[in-house]
Amino acid sequence: MENRPLGIFDSGVGGLTVAREIYQEFPHLNTIYVGDTARVPYGNRSKTTVIRFSREIVEFLMTKKVKAIVVACSTASAQAIDELKAHYDIPIYGVIAPAAKYAANITKTNRVGVIGTRGTIASKQFNHEVLKENNAVSILSKACPLFVPLVEEGIVSGKIAKEVARLYLASFTKDQIDTLIMGCTHYPMLETVIQQTMGEQITIINPGKALVEELKRNPLFSSPQSNKKAIHSWYVTDNPDLFSTIASHILQTEKLIKPKVIRLKEISS
Ligand code: DGL
Repeated sequence: MENRPLGIFDSGVGGLTVAREIYQEFPHLNTIYVGDTARVPYGNRSKTTVIRFSREIVEFLMTKKVKAIVVACSTASAQAIDELKAHYDIPIYGVIAPAAKYAANITKTNRVGVIGTRGTIASKQFNHEVLKENNAVSILSKACPLFVPLVEEGIVSGKIAKEVARLYLASFTKDQIDTLIMGCTHYPMLETVIQQTMGEQITIINPGKALVEELKRNPLFSSPQSNKKAIHSWYVTDNPDLFSTIASHILQTEKLIKPKVIRLKEISS
């Protein structure tokens, strides 16, 4: 059990912002990452479709004997986590609840902002989880669909990134919130721009970091796995070369990230 890998999945490459936090915190934990690059983005898809795609990935991860699964994709966490937890008998972690809980506890003004894909924002899952923890909080949310392609094009600083950030974040007018959750895999790549746009006084929450704190509380991860360096593998459903290019950027490594291409078995919903 100890050496069994942790499964991590996302609609594409963005979930590596979550994976990198896991790699850093648990240097001996073997992992298997799946990016559904053939069907990305999930952000504008229906709940039924996101559930089906997520289940197909989890079925694949189960064949790899993973001991737990991290749904690194915020959209899939928002739309599919309940169904996944109901279907599979291993620990399944999403990225919404840990970030929401953290925000609910650190806000001083009880005003929290959430940004994410259209699907995540429409699901109101962040609102639900924040209110579960602290029902005095007001939540302001905003879908920021242009942030994902910006990151995928490597535009994470400079004039264009700043302009787009201003366009979306201007709706959080001065003093409206004191905490902002980056509720999408890609947004941590824009953290500097987001922080500059919002101002230093706003606390920006990276869900990957909040998730790692949650994982640390589970003995499956907190007890020493082994003293061997972790083995990480990556699987994609299309475009391995594009994945490699963006992956090196997100993981800030010169090392070539070489994913294997897989075809997921279709399941009927
Ligand atoms: N991974 C998605 C998320 O975190 C962003 C990209 C997509 O729309 O699939 O919501």
